[in-house]
Amino acid sequence: MRALLCTRLEGPEHLEVVERPDPVPGPGQALVRIRLAALNFFDTLIVAGRYQVKPPLPFSPGGEGVGVVEALGEGASGVAVGDRVIVHAGHGCCAERIAIDAAKLTPVPDGVPDEQAAGLTITYGTSLHALANRARLRPGEWMAVLGASGGVGLAAVELGRLMGARVIACASSEEKLAVARAHGAEATLVYDPATLKDALRQVSGGGVDVVYDAVGDAYAEPALRALGWRGRYLVIGFAAGAIPRLPLNLILLKELDVQGVHWGAFLDREPAAHQADQRRLLGWVAEGKLTAQVHGVYPLAEFPEAFGLLTRRAAVGKVLLRP
Ligand SMILES: NC(=O)c1ccc[n+]([C@@H]2O[C@H](COP(=O)([O-])OP(=O)(O)OC[C@H]3O[C@@H](n4cnc5c(N)ncnc54)[C@H](OP(=O)(O)O)[C@@H]3O)[C@@H](O)[C@H]2O)c1
Repeated sequence: MRALLCTRLEGPEHLEVVERPDPVPGPGQALVRIRLAALNFFDTLIVAGRYQVKPPLPFSPGGEGVGVVEALGEGASGVAVGDRVIVHAGHGCCAERIAIDAAKLTPVPDGVPDEQAAGLTITYGTSLHALANRARLRPGEWMAVLGASGGVGLAAVELGRLMGARVIACASSEEKLAVARAHGAEATLVYDPATLKDALRQVSGGGVDVVYDAVGDAYAEPALRALGWRGRYLVIGFAAGAIPRLPLNLILLKELDVQGVHWGAFLDREPAAHQADQRRLLGWVAEGKLTAQVHGVYPLAEFPEAFGLLTRRAAVGKVLLRP
């Protein structure tokens, strides 16, 4: 099979497309032929050795995708040969085939096309977990989303709107904000750490109820300062680079909650709750309530362009690779 391979931890430009033997499904595993792999920001980190998970070399990147079950290992259950499934693997989807625990696969309903299913799990799964299970977002609340046109950010905009919140999308350009508005943002801000706090307070009429922060760095503290009484601050990621330090006095003064979101740990610790979230998301996509926006679909050989979209901050929605 053809696979995109990471043989040294020197970044996306050093990946190679190579021929590899097909994997063989072990006990409890399914062999899935990948139709589309979806990239996330962490794929740019994992191939540079800068992500918390460090798979042994060589490995294929690609945390998630969609494919069809081709064979089952001994004792594998829950899916059948021929089923179209969402694969959430952590890595390994940028290859024609993957062998993976059958229990980690989610069958895809007929109404959901491959393009939408491929990149649904990580971004929408993270954002639904953050908004519903952690922040307990309520209708009518103001929510600021930092990095609102990226993968998890755009999912948060759509889900926030669907849950009845008033969403303020924050991103680096008017072009990106137009996308967030089209996905349900009520207000938009081109963000600048120097003006972010006042701008968010002004738009929300005093202070926002929830901050969804996927960028960190210099944006974090002004966003924290824009929260109102008992606001919740969701720590999602640090796409802008530095991990910020937040002054605890601000948390005391307004009885704020800073809520960590570690979706990967959540799905290992609470698999039933994760499966319920997945079914909820797939139902909403089938009903046309979520778009699962796709930036573009690229053949495996065009991986430099696909990864470059993420490292250059140019992706609007999901970047997909067709192995
Ligand atoms: N906590 C969890 O469980 C969890 C789960 C999934 C992802 N994450 C994290 O969430 C973050 C976003 O992931 P994603 O897949 O949504 O990424 P993405 O699609 O690349 O979006 C990241 C956004 O961050 C903004 N950004 C600001 N400074 C940037 C920089 N220097 N380089 C790149 N982007 C920058 C960009 O928007 P602007 O240009 O508009 O600023 C971009 O749209 C990552 O840190 C990821 O590790 C966390």
